[in-house]
Amino acid sequence: MDTHTLIDNGILKQHLIDPEICIRCNTCEATCPVNAITHDDNNYVVRADVCNGCMACISPCPTGSIDNWRAVPVARAYTVEEQFSWEELPGELAPYELVAAGGEPATEVTALQQAPEAPAEPGTQVFRSAQYGATVPPWSAAHPYTNLFPPKNPTTATVVGNFNCTEAGFESETHHVVLDFGSMPFPVLEGQSIGIIPPGADALGKPHHARQYSVASPRNGERPGYNNLALTVKRVTVDHDGNPVRGVASNYVCDLKVGDKVQVVGPFGSSFLMPNHPRSHIVMICTGTGSAPMRAMTEWRRRLRNSGKFEGGKLLLFFGARTQQELPYFGPLQSLPKDFIDINLAFSRTPGQPKRYVQDLMRERAADLLALLRDDNSHFYVCGLKGMEEGVVMALRDIAQEAGLSWDALGGTLQREGRLHLETY
Ligand code: A2P
Repeated sequence: MDTHTLIDNGILKQHLIDPEICIRCNTCEATCPVNAITHDDNNYVVRADVCNGCMACISPCPTGSIDNWRAVPVARAYTVEEQFSWEELPGELAPYELVAAGGEPATEVTALQQAPEAPAEPGTQVFRSAQYGATVPPWSAAHPYTNLFPPKNPTTATVVGNFNCTEAGFESETHHVVLDFGSMPFPVLEGQSIGIIPPGADALGKPHHARQYSVASPRNGERPGYNNLALTVKRVTVDHDGNPVRGVASNYVCDLKVGDKVQVVGPFGSSFLMPNHPRSHIVMICTGTGSAPMRAMTEWRRRLRNSGKFEGGKLLLFFGARTQQELPYFGPLQSLPKDFIDINLAFSRTPGQPKRYVQDLMRERAADLLALLRDDNSHFYVCGLKGMEEGVVMALRDIAQEAGLSWDALGGTLQREGRLHLETY
């Protein structure tokens, strides 16, 4: 598909992202198969000359901010620089403005409604892990509520707990923060996320936009039966290049005190959801705070198991961190029964030990993962560092292929059936 399918009589149906609703979660940029989406500190934007209208980014977007289109004369398409400066979307051009620019107003551009890009044919493309990430939930997932409180209409939660869930005194520090919504309904499912709006303004004097965090507690509350939820937040003290920086939102959240009020938006996400049918297996692969949804799913399965009324399948966890001391929830993980969850920890910076990543451990457990890859009841969840995603999906691919399975067929099935979920940042 090329850009011409978006153009009708000199009018471009330009793909735009609504800056007022976008929570800057990077999902669209990570999903776009042609690299049409980019961002600066202010906005996520779409390059008009690169976007081919394939729609792959539309359903993964947790807020719907991605699904905006404006008819503009081709020669007057909004530039990336213009979009970076926006605080809201421009209005539609009047028909006379379009005609004056040499085009007929487009009533409909049907070619836009294309299916997301299909997984690659063997040997035709470089490996792109994102194409195997599902945009639909597992068939047995519960129905999620989304956008009950959009960025224009946040609600207020009260902090009822905040503690360091890594060992004190280490370079990186991760907090377990519990928010209570009182009598305000705020239903969430494991795998969904919420946004927190830090108070104050950015360097340009504009209010901060919401930062997205995965929910770390199960559907019936961090404390069962309470209208509360937990988050797993790492204090950001260095940027991607290792230079010192004070992350605005993460430091705000990590410093919250019991009783503080927080502005919350959400819930978001409708595909990274757990299966609910008996004997369904869950393979969880994460690094650092990517453990939040895994904790939520594990805890829900643990509560179901304790109820004695649900027969769960296998739970397999691959969890990576620099050291044992910096792995969130290391202590609580140790107390989970061995016949309930199979835990594999990869430490990359333990003095005197070789560097180990989650994908290394997955390859060591190839026989068990192969059995799960062959089973339609298996669901795979990947959450954490962007850099890990490719290595993890490649490990799954290699495990399948070494056993003579076609990864192109299997990866495509996992994607279509909502059984391989990728959430990396
Ligand atoms: P590393 O020691 O190489 O940074 P963090 O604490 O920064 O959130 O990282 C979580 C873990 O993920 C660390 O052990 C980190 O190792 C590891 N990691 C970094 N890059 C990758 C990658 N490409 N694949 C798998 N794990 C990775």
